[in-house]
Amino acid sequence: YVIGIDLGTSAVKALLINKEGTVAGEASRSYPLYHEHTGWSEQKPDDWVDATLEALGELAAAIGPEASAQIEGISFSGQMHGLVLLSGAGNPVRNAILWNDTRTTAQCREIERTLGDKLLGITRNPALEGFTLPKILWVRENEPAAFEQAELFLLPKDYVRYRLTGERHMDYSDAAGTLLLDVAAKRWSEEVLAAFELPASFCPPLVESHGQTGTLLAELAQRTGLPATVKVFAGGADNACGAIGAGILSEGLTLCSIGTSGVILSYENDKNKDFAGKVHFFNHGKEDAFYAMGVTLAAGYSLSWFKKTFAPDESFDELLAGIEEVKPGAGGLLFTPYLVGERTPHPDSLIRASFIGVDGSHERIHFARAVMEGITFSLHESVDMFRAAGKTVNTIVSIGGGAQNPVWLQMQADIFDAKVVALENEQGPGLGAAMLAAYGSGWFESLEACAAKFVKHAKQYSPQPEAVEAYKGLFRIYQQVYAQTRSLN
Ligand code: XUL
Repeated sequence: YVIGIDLGTSAVKALLINKEGTVAGEASRSYPLYHEHTGWSEQKPDDWVDATLEALGELAAAIGPEASAQIEGISFSGQMHGLVLLSGAGNPVRNAILWNDTRTTAQCREIERTLGDKLLGITRNPALEGFTLPKILWVRENEPAAFEQAELFLLPKDYVRYRLTGERHMDYSDAAGTLLLDVAAKRWSEEVLAAFELPASFCPPLVESHGQTGTLLAELAQRTGLPATVKVFAGGADNACGAIGAGILSEGLTLCSIGTSGVILSYENDKNKDFAGKVHFFNHGKEDAFYAMGVTLAAGYSLSWFKKTFAPDESFDELLAGIEEVKPGAGGLLFTPYLVGERTPHPDSLIRASFIGVDGSHERIHFARAVMEGITFSLHESVDMFRAAGKTVNTIVSIGGGAQNPVWLQMQADIFDAKVVALENEQGPGLGAAMLAAYGSGWFESLEACAAKFVKHAKQYSPQPEAVEAYKGLFRIYQQVYAQTRSLN
């Protein structure tokens, strides 16, 4: 067996996977988020460690000591960007500041001013509030006493791994989200570190996602019931692991993930591919590969908001019953999903959503369809940008809540004008983490060979020419709504 640990924002989920790639066990533990002020979002790093050890203990107890002795490797998928500052003694000097914390606007402007064009040239990404370097600068400026004690920084899953093994590392896919990595050269940027007067010793050694980073400490092996010989592999950022778990491991493959937020992620071989900072550009969990990614902040969240507000006592199935009878275009009703602002292609935290073209004949089902179409249009902006940059997007693997409904899957095929495939028994980033452990343990010669066995395609949806044409016209109108409504806020 191998274990994939998905360290998320609300909970940790541990997946036990056997040599066939089948789930043999699952355990999860949640932990609190702290929002001390508006825009702040923090967690206690030791809550992650306690929750992970409990989940591992539950997995081992469920299968018994004989089967537990056959667990060979553990790896991680981690929530990205979160800052853990460690003291010389290896303890967090304050709570972790998470990816969805937005206190660092001033520090982002400072980074842009200081680095100018080098920011995109080296880090390949714009300075966004969620990323790690702005958080480091914020702590230094606002909590000098805490910063004084800090000797090293880690990302969330790296802290958990450190506590499990005693070793401190970071993999490239997660380091790419810090704004301190030279993404193409795969090394910490001396230039960025020097510009902000940070010593090289502040950054942990870099490793590949499938690289071994120690073994489980003997006392923790005893406490959880796992073998002390179990190898621990670095793991990757949650989006990189989501891509691996969906088999996005070669040119031309694209991922559409619709959870609370939505992601369009495209595999990239060329380290110099230029998207002009319009989408994120990060290292993949596969060696020497990359991915570009656009984000819709309120994807599944828009549909959940709609259900909670207009159909609180119904299930999603009841809300969406009969939706296939409403034609593409929802009878002239258009929705933009900016309930909490937008990230791609408009990095704008102030823009808000809209329904356009409401007509006396519209019923709730038209609004529901318009919400699904608006979310998909927002994701299509990223697909469109990838194509404009010369990428081929012809097969999209769809995961998350958006892959649960066949009407939505067909809609994705029609709006993206690409084949859309759902997965059988989809497991998300936890499976990607387990695949890194399986590859690292030597079960397979490559991640691709592992994916061939572990990632199973379910039904495929092909674009329907008539709907594709209808959506092309509607998308052009959708794209104008942002500019037309921006000034109304
Ligand atoms: C990516 C991002 C989120 C987090 C969620 O840039 O901020 O997807 O990784 O954990």
